Amino acid sequence: MRGISYWFYLVAALSVTFGMIWGIVMAISQDHTLSPAHAHLNLVGWVTMGLFGIYYHLVPESGATRLAKIHFVVATAGLVLLAPGIAIALLYDFEGLAAIGSLVTLASMLIFLWTVIRDGRGRKLAF
Ligand code: HEM
Repeated sequence: MRGISYWFYLVAALSVTFGMIWGIVMAISQDHTLSPAHAHLNLVGWVTMGLFGIYYHLVPESGATRLAKIHFVVATAGLVLLAPGIAIALLYDFEGLAAIGSLVTLASMLIFLWTVIRDGRGRKLAF
């Protein structure tokens, strides 16, 4: 079975691949309306998910926990709701999906914050 880092990296690489294509389409069309959605897909999807993946790779005992799997599901759900949610907010003036996505994304970061604190308490870190 693959480690949780693989799944974080996979979502990160998919996000930036789609995000770059989206950026190129915006540049060619010279329509930058959706640039905040593109930015969040890249920064939450590529950068943040990638950093989570690196952390779980560096601290494998943390990546092997059930909480790490829950974290992956919550983080991915937040991303999937947030980036399209921002696009929908910009295009149709409906912010509900972006609001839910932002709260789920915050929940993901709270799980990660707890993970970092838990791993740092009285334990010898791998980095
Ligand atoms: C092929 C790669 C990419 C292309 C062609 C591209 C293209 C663009 C374009 C055309 C804009 C709109 C600029 C404007 O309205 O002034 C933009 C905005 C932005 N992009 Fe990208 N981008 C790419 C990759 C990335 C990546 C990898 C990241 C982050 C890790 C990123 C983050 C941002 C941010 C933060 C903004 C500003 C959003 C805003 O001010 O609303 N982009 N990009």
